[in-house]
Amino acid sequence: MPPHLPRLLALGLALTCAGAVTVNQTASTYTFANDRVSFAVVKSNGYIRNLIFDGVSVLGTLSGNAGQLYTDFPSNGFALTGASEGKVVQGKNYAGIVLTDNDTATGSLVQRSWFLRDGETGLHSFVRLAYYNDTPKGALGEVRTMFRPNGGPWATLVTNAEQWAPTPGAEAVANEVQVQDATWYLGLTPSDAYVQQESDYFTKYSFADNQTNKAHGLYGQGPDGTPIGAWWVVNQKDTFFGGPFHVDLMVDGIIYNKQSTSHGGATSPNITNGFDRTFGPQFLYLNRAPNARYMTYCQRDDSTLLSTCDLRSLHDLLADAEKYADPSWNAEFYDEIAPYVHGYVPTRARGSFSANIQVPHGATDVIAILSANGVHFQVCSIPSHLEYVLKRHLQDSAADPSAYQYWVTDARDGVVNIDRVKAGTYRLTVSASGIFGDYVQDSVEIKAQRNTHVRATWVPESAGTELWRIGVPDKTAGEFKNGWERDTTHPRQPSKYRIFWGAWDFPNEFPGGVNFTVGKSDESRDWNYVHWSQYGPTYTRNDTVTDINRWTINFDIDTHTARRLTSHSVVTFTIQLAAAKTTAGNTDADQGAYPSFPINTYVNNETDPLSWTIQPYESSSCGERSAISCHLLTKKFQFPGTWLKEGANQLVLELPHAAPVYVQYDALRLELQ
Ligand SMILES: *[C@@H]1O[C@H](CO)[C@@H](O)[C@H](O)[C@H]1NC(C)=O
Ligand SMILES: *[C@@H]1O[C@H](CO)[C@@H](O)[C@H](O)[C@H]1NC(C)=O
Ligand SMILES: *[C@@H]1O[C@H](CO)[C@@H](O)[C@H](O)[C@H]1NC(C)=O
Ligand SMILES: *[C@@H]1O[C@H](CO)[C@@H](O)[C@H](O)[C@H]1NC(C)=O
Ligand SMILES: *[C@@H]1O[C@H](CO)[C@@H](O)[C@H](O)[C@H]1NC(C)=O
Ligand SMILES: *[C@@H]1O[C@H](CO)[C@@H](O)[C@H](O)[C@H]1NC(C)=O
Ligand SMILES: *[C@@H]1O[C@H](CO)[C@@H](O)[C@H](O)[C@H]1NC(C)=O
Repeated sequence: MPPHLPRLLALGLALTCAGAVTVNQTASTYTFANDRVSFAVVKSNGYIRNLIFDGVSVLGTLSGNAGQLYTDFPSNGFALTGASEGKVVQGKNYAGIVLTDNDTATGSLVQRSWFLRDGETGLHSFVRLAYYNDTPKGALGEVRTMFRPNGGPWATLVTNAEQWAPTPGAEAVANEVQVQDATWYLGLTPSDAYVQQESDYFTKYSFADNQTNKAHGLYGQGPDGTPIGAWWVVNQKDTFFGGPFHVDLMVDGIIYNKQSTSHGGATSPNITNGFDRTFGPQFLYLNRAPNARYMTYCQRDDSTLLSTCDLRSLHDLLADAEKYADPSWNAEFYDEIAPYVHGYVPTRARGSFSANIQVPHGATDVIAILSANGVHFQVCSIPSHLEYVLKRHLQDSAADPSAYQYWVTDARDGVVNIDRVKAGTYRLTVSASGIFGDYVQDSVEIKAQRNTHVRATWVPESAGTELWRIGVPDKTAGEFKNGWERDTTHPRQPSKYRIFWGAWDFPNEFPGGVNFTVGKSDESRDWNYVHWSQYGPTYTRNDTVTDINRWTINFDIDTHTARRLTSHSVVTFTIQLAAAKTTAGNTDADQGAYPSFPINTYVNNETDPLSWTIQPYESSSCGERSAISCHLLTKKFQFPGTWLKEGANQLVLELPHAAPVYVQYDALRLELQ
């Protein structure tokens, strides 16, 4: 034990005073306080209760697990023994606690730590998970740290500056009708604020965000009428899995900080001997706007909608929280506490990365990602079916669950700067809206306290003359009908994809399935965000519609192009998917009637389709979970030019008939060489 750590004193006595942070203990709790924030840590399990901010009880009263701030493991990848050992640590202007739950029988270790600084109104949090046992433990699955109030001042769920809504009221919840697991119809209470403002349906997935999120949380009004906020500030992204597109951080009354999930297309790693990862820091931030007026909601019949609402305090408090979502914020403090936070990578073990990538003409919203070497950025470790192949192709260590990830979005002109990168070997991926495929470069070495610079030209993939494309290649299905499209019937005007899919009745909107004509149809109107094999039942329909599994693309070939359709010419058909769902759902497991399924493409009157089989480990419950981008997949088919002809041509995209599966297209393209 470092010499300056205090010894724990007798029960009930003040331990010590570090700057203005005091630490006491009772028989069952440790208590921490600075001038504005105080809380108790339960000795047996490390849960936090009685969190008081400027005199306001922000977690409310204890009821079961509610009324607390804690980490849990819904997939049982890890568990607490209930015998956490707490060590209080104190420095000049801070105090903290490291809770070690060491299950020596199984070799599993859960270590959680919390730190409170003088002058700050929030808690810094880390979670370490380690496993030392020769018997593999299985998938990590979901790990989440939750701010889970029971009561308190909260009235509004805030995902980001755009997506927020009132929390459904007690009467709405009492009258809810379940329409899917974790999804409810609330329309039986039409005067409820949530129903008025947002939707007839409620699911936490409507309030999910991808990992570009800076802060998400709850907004409300303190007893004195002052606007108040509680936020998970995502100040560090490097220890999450799945990259920028991974969707799951969310708020539904609880504020979740998801360290690991298999939702939204991310895979969680298999836990094997030696797994040891420290997630964090993350900051649970509390703020108030003493001089602001509490926001009142806009009225449903107010045609000017948002402009008349007083959103100032909500947006002010969110913006205040977001400004801490910066990896360099508090870096010196994190270096100071690093000796107590096993696995935290201090500044001296980090380097920086810069790049000048010449991006293709037409590329917008350029994203650069550093992630596990040798594999797609959505893969956190090598799936066993690829292990053999990858180990042969990669000389050095391939992807492993200790890999960190970094990214910048909106890398204009391909100029990339990423600071505080853990030393190691990475894959660089550059992607952009408007461009099929990615730029990928493996074995980028980051050295501690050095900058690594990459200069490269991204030559976009091409297979000849582009005959047509449908959709914008941007790794989402957002541009299609019911995607980012707004629901203008509710004042909050949520993007439709965020709302339970049963609200957008596909068989009514597209009887018989999509029939799209290139050059005539409009992808935001005539192509749906989900290609369902079957549809229903939903709250508004009792039947299951099955004659919608075949979608048609009509296109014309002009005389000039037709001359090039010889037996030597090659047509390339590219399908980029933003998601596909088999009956594996989010499990990756070989389960259900369709653990895998083919997408067949019929070209004109050819009898044999071009067939692509979606595998269980490629599945994600994306659209059903109100997501627009999940496990990304790409397929290219080639066929002879003679399969096409001058004049009217047709591709039919077919999913299995009457199967509980679907896909979400990112973009499609036909090229001729
Ligand atoms: C700790 O005890 C001291 C002395 O009794 C008291 O002044 C202080 O408020 C207590 N702090 C907490 C966090 O309970
Ligand atoms: C957990 O227990 C194991 C076995 O007793 C021990 O080797 C290890 O050091 C302990 N880890 C911590 C962090 O206490
Ligand atoms: C992430 O989500 C935000 C907010 O919904 C959106 O604006 C952004 O385009 C998304 N980014 C990625 C990389 O998916
Ligand atoms: C995890 O282990 C299972 C069972 O051995 C295997 O099927 C799966 O591919 C593994 N996944 C990863 C990501 O390694
Ligand atoms: C599909 O659209 C084309 C072009 O508008 C039209 O000729 C054809 O009849 C439509 N097919 C169906 C089944 O509606
Ligand atoms: C569905 O069936 C139930 C039970 O028969 C009935 O009460 C309800 O009105 C039906 N709903 C629709 C939309 O047809
Ligand atoms: C398919 O075959 C039918 C019957 O021979 C023909 O009329 C039609 O034009 C063909 N369609 C295409 C797209 O080749």
